[in-house]
Amino acid sequence: MSQQIDQLVAEYKNTGSLKGLPSKLYIDGNWSDAHNGQTMDTLDPSSGKVFASFSAAQKKDVDLAVEAASSAFHNVWKLTKASRRGEILSRAADLLEQQADRFCVVEALDSGKPLAEAQGDIASSVSALRYYAGCADKIQGDSFPLGEGNYSFSTLEAVGVTAHIIPWNYPLATTIRGVAPALAAGCTAVVKPAEQTPLTALMLAEVLRSAGLPDGVYNVVNGTGAEAGSALVNHPKVQHVTFTGSVDTGVLVMQAAARNITSVTLELGGKSPIVALADCDIEKTAEGVLWAIFYNAGQICSAGSRLVVSCEIHRQLVDKIVEKAAALKPGHSLDNPNFGAINSKAQLDKIAGFIDRARARGIKVACGGNKMHSAETADGWFFEPTIMDDVPMDDELVQEEIFGPVLSVQVVDSLEQAIEAANCTQFALAAGIYTQNISSAMQLSRAIDAGQITVNDYWAGGIEVPFGGNRRSGIGREKGLQALRSYCATKSITFAF
Ligand code: NAI
Ligand code: MG
Repeated sequence: MSQQIDQLVAEYKNTGSLKGLPSKLYIDGNWSDAHNGQTMDTLDPSSGKVFASFSAAQKKDVDLAVEAASSAFHNVWKLTKASRRGEILSRAADLLEQQADRFCVVEALDSGKPLAEAQGDIASSVSALRYYAGCADKIQGDSFPLGEGNYSFSTLEAVGVTAHIIPWNYPLATTIRGVAPALAAGCTAVVKPAEQTPLTALMLAEVLRSAGLPDGVYNVVNGTGAEAGSALVNHPKVQHVTFTGSVDTGVLVMQAAARNITSVTLELGGKSPIVALADCDIEKTAEGVLWAIFYNAGQICSAGSRLVVSCEIHRQLVDKIVEKAAALKPGHSLDNPNFGAINSKAQLDKIAGFIDRARARGIKVACGGNKMHSAETADGWFFEPTIMDDVPMDDELVQEEIFGPVLSVQVVDSLEQAIEAANCTQFALAAGIYTQNISSAMQLSRAIDAGQITVNDYWAGGIEVPFGGNRRSGIGREKGLQALRSYCATKSITFAF
């Protein structure tokens, strides 16, 4: 870790907080308190302690932010040359990269994830800004062959004000994943971060301002989902809502948007399978599955939370993953352990509830299964890396998103059974396949219902690759060129002469 990271870590350990954290709302280029002065606290999941507080917006504040975004859209941003928009985003990428150390310490502290994982998040956020910076002046329409007497063509026009509702597991990366394509397309943005992780979206405001982004183009209204989030997604001047979070809240967001005929991108839950066939490379598969479920302590919508394994290698593979899981060491995010905290006490209790009920049903715990209490975890919220073995298809451990470090193993004895097991939930977000047989890999990739499938490397991918889910995992795609289309409306123009 760098000297600056060491200094920030020392400051936190000595004082219980960090100097200079942003805490206000960011509306129309100004830092302001909530109109009624309301504030909330944010906690450090690794210690369970409050380390900062922040302004919590009410409907009135959200209305101001949307008005600012609307005015900036009509008067400034949609009139700004596309190449200039790209330059600003590109400069923001450079500035974020320069400030990566501070961003990663704050992100690790606020979310509970290990420093190295937060560094990965900031690096991928920089990549996303660069990718969409390069896209801004390449958003092109078509022409249509109506024949003699007409010219007909289309342009892709920015939809207007966009709302971004952000979860707590990837606070900055999810914000930038939505905001970068929106701004590149010429839209303006109002962001509502999660209550648990309000800080890095505010820090991004300063980066964007320094990069030359005009006032009102990017606004941040922290606060509760019920008050600030709901006011934002119900606002008639919002033209697109990008939401990442739970299915239940996704339903509310879609209902609110429906009243205003507002389009939505919904990135919801998952119960993503990893299919391991008998001919897979056991070591590589075990390592892949380990990080598919234990990275960010399993708090990832696309975590590989089910292992669908051929009976021939079931014992060998599960034993290998158990052995690797035993080597994971929890600790405070700023001590950079290889296994981090659960983001909130509520989420920790939710995970523990799943395992307690499974034990009562007689499901075998291959490893883990308990909250952690040790010198390293202190009063933080930690749950052991957990593997539940040979779980029946209709069990809630297979059917429900747990959003924690819990792998459910399903044993199959044919390719057909593997396909049936992979597709047995209401979710269809991601899937991994581990096999040496290209024909089996192709058959599985064709038959599994998911937004993205990887073969022999679960986390393969990048900002270039579209990402999203089918069925209850959501609607629409983020990342890649496809994400830009959510922020554009096609206008066809036809001349007669
Ligand atoms: P949530 O879906 O309620 O929260 C996500 C965001 O939505 C937060 O910013 C929240 O303030 C906002 N929100 C809440 N109610 C809203 C409303 N009525 N209108 C507009 N915005 C609203 O998820 P929560 O409560 O944090 O976690 C519950 C479960 O959701 C977790 O246990 C996990 O299973 C799942 N989850 C999935 C995520 C994913 O990446 N797919 C991310 C976070 C949670
Ligand atoms: Mg926090």
